[in-house]
Amino acid sequence: MTAEIKATLSFSDGSPSVEFPVHKGTVGPDVIDIRTLYGKTGKFTYDPGFLSTAACNSKITYIDGDKGELLYRGYPIEQLAVNCDFLETCYLLLNGELPNVTEKAAFVKQVTTHTMVHEQMQFFLRGFRRDAHPMAVMTGLVGGLSAFYPDSMNTADAKEREISAIRLIAKMPTMVAMAYKYSIGQPFVHPRNDLSYSANFMRMMFANPCEEYELNDVLVRAMDRIFILHADHEQNASTSTVRLCASSGTNPFAAIAAGVACLWGPAHGGANEACLNMLSDIQAEGGVEKIGEFITKVKDKNSSVRLMGFGHRVYKNYDPRAKLMRETCHEVLNALGLQDDPMFKLAMALEKIALEDDYFVQRKLYPNVDFYSGIVQKAIGIPVPLFTAIFALARTVGWIAQLNEMISDPEYKIGRPRQLFVGSESRNVKPLDQR
Ligand code: SDX
Repeated sequence: MTAEIKATLSFSDGSPSVEFPVHKGTVGPDVIDIRTLYGKTGKFTYDPGFLSTAACNSKITYIDGDKGELLYRGYPIEQLAVNCDFLETCYLLLNGELPNVTEKAAFVKQVTTHTMVHEQMQFFLRGFRRDAHPMAVMTGLVGGLSAFYPDSMNTADAKEREISAIRLIAKMPTMVAMAYKYSIGQPFVHPRNDLSYSANFMRMMFANPCEEYELNDVLVRAMDRIFILHADHEQNASTSTVRLCASSGTNPFAAIAAGVACLWGPAHGGANEACLNMLSDIQAEGGVEKIGEFITKVKDKNSSVRLMGFGHRVYKNYDPRAKLMRETCHEVLNALGLQDDPMFKLAMALEKIALEDDYFVQRKLYPNVDFYSGIVQKAIGIPVPLFTAIFALARTVGWIAQLNEMISDPEYKIGRPRQLFVGSESRNVKPLDQR
């Protein structure tokens, strides 16, 4: 990174000013390189929530929150969602370029031949209650993978990173489907090597040993698009978790398990589940007629009610993924004859009202990827508690690509933020009878 311009920090107490290089990216905000700040001034910056902090440099995903733009390795998400499938997108995120015919065939074969999990993995599931949340199961299963693959645990080795990436991408669908089958008491369905990635997942989810499972191409394509739209998203909370976790040198399975755990939160990947639950609640209370009442609660500072599926730390315009997800919604509901699905109609009514309401307009709160993804998944037959597990399945490739980029950066160090200490100064312990 070259720095043509400099930033000067001066202090009103007469402390000497200090200069910092300003780095320009290919596109997007410049950064002020403050790595020498503490050494030069004995001071830290203060930025809880990292509202103004770039934690790394990256070539993988670019988001322009004002334009509502999302690029994977420079390609607009709108073009990838229409022209590519999920495994092509995985190849792109991992390698920086879209695969040609030969490269795609080799990559698909590699992933396909790693879709099975060790037979022992099924015994992890038996330890859970059948009604365990799928994200509790997934956090356990993904972390558990690190007990099975000693030959791909060392992230410092490029070959081991590559094989663990393939294993994780390949096995996530199998594990998510196992978590689902376990929750409904049906036998696990083994992956098949003659099916595409997304078709394989649909079959593992919905087939049963008593009859042939008939794939619905519209639903398979919808699932594949859901995977593409959720694959990566710059330095979001779970990706930053994976980077920080992996920076200790831990194995890739443990680092991805940390990402799964973080994604579970309702402010993050758990929002699609929370959004569907919110729509169900409004529906139960009377549907469209009750939207006004609900919006009033959302605007009431004393209520902790939020419009789930709306708002974003970066997008201050419409999330481009939400637009594509809304299209997929229409396609799936039409294919299933659910055009009059009350939940979808309620979501569209809620979106229209919210987009015209000053509270949301002023705060630039637009629908995000989670607003429609839940409705599509529900229409496909995915149970609501499994939505975030499917988000984790898709985001695994993004987490891995970001982990690999960090580990391959010769400048990378273990992440170790500091703090502004506001607690007690040093004091002496009193004996128990004097406290
Ligand atoms: C994902 O980071 C990523 O890239 C994440 C993600 C990815 O792909 O990895 O895109 C996936 O996590 C999408 C976001 C899913 N979350 C939700 O849909 C949950 C609902 N949304 C919010 O909780 C919230 O919008 C966040 C957490 C997403 C973003 O919050 P910010 O940027 O920290 O904004 P904020 O909490 O500071 O809110 C600013 C104002 C506040 O009002 P004021 O105090 O200024 O009066 O907007 C209000 C908030 O109260 N606000 C909302 C709101 N979101 C923000 N009010 C009502 N409903 C909401 N959803």
